[in-house]
Amino acid sequence: MNIVSLIGSNRGEKSTSASMVNYLAQQLVPQGIPVSNHYAVRMYHQPHAQAVFLQELQESVLLIVSSPVYVDFLPAPLIHVLEGVRERMGRNGLEGRKILAIIHSGYPEPQQRRPSLEMCRCFAREMGMEWWGGLSFGGTSPISGQSLEAMGGMTKGIRSVLNQTVEKIVKGGLTGVETLALEDRSTIPLSPWLVKLMMNAMIRNNAKKSGIKDLKARPYGVKGK
Ligand SMILES: Cc1cc2nc3c(=O)[nH]c(=O)nc-3n(C[C@H](O)[C@H](O)[C@H](O)COP(=O)(O)O)c2cc1C
Repeated sequence: MNIVSLIGSNRGEKSTSASMVNYLAQQLVPQGIPVSNHYAVRMYHQPHAQAVFLQELQESVLLIVSSPVYVDFLPAPLIHVLEGVRERMGRNGLEGRKILAIIHSGYPEPQQRRPSLEMCRCFAREMGMEWWGGLSFGGTSPISGQSLEAMGGMTKGIRSVLNQTVEKIVKGGLTGVETLALEDRSTIPLSPWLVKLMMNAMIRNNAKKSGIKDLKARPYGVKGK
């Protein structure tokens, strides 16, 4: 089985999205399963790099999309690349291939990652690929492109899910599912409501320091509404 990864972060090789794929690859490659990494931001700026990606994608069994959430959705360069694949290969152009999405974000609540996971599943449907489910991880900002092992206990939950994923890939235990997210883990060992309270306080504090007075201002809103 050969695997192609598509890393969606604008930070490319220095991203947490890459750290997650590298963690998987460290275990898969010694077991004879190659993982070839491709970066959406590079393909966005150098469209000719897309040709190699498309070629490898056609020859692959599994596509792993690993991406952060930027302002509620997938990063724009990743959307651009996915749309390019659809355009060039046509509807059902990747029939027979599988897809696994790793979507992670700063906030801990699962709903932060849901629209991005839906976008990946929609891509799978459009391309005729088998949806192998999504992995959803919250509180990933502090990882900041470091290796998952270097973060110690903080990434224990994420690593445990990725270890199980490797095992399933090797043993053939990952199969098509209806479920959007197979797992959801957060690195923050606090209730989401408490994290929300703390983050809101932090944002208010930062706004005050930057001289922003009205946090509810709607510069593009219609007057009177
Ligand atoms: C411009 C920008 C927008 C973001 N928007 C969200 C968001 O809507 N929800 C969220 O939970 N995290 C958000 N984050 C946090 C990132 O998802 C998080 O820091 C992630 O770990 C970055 O991963 P990367 O290193 O792979 O890019 C945002 C970060 C940036 C830089």
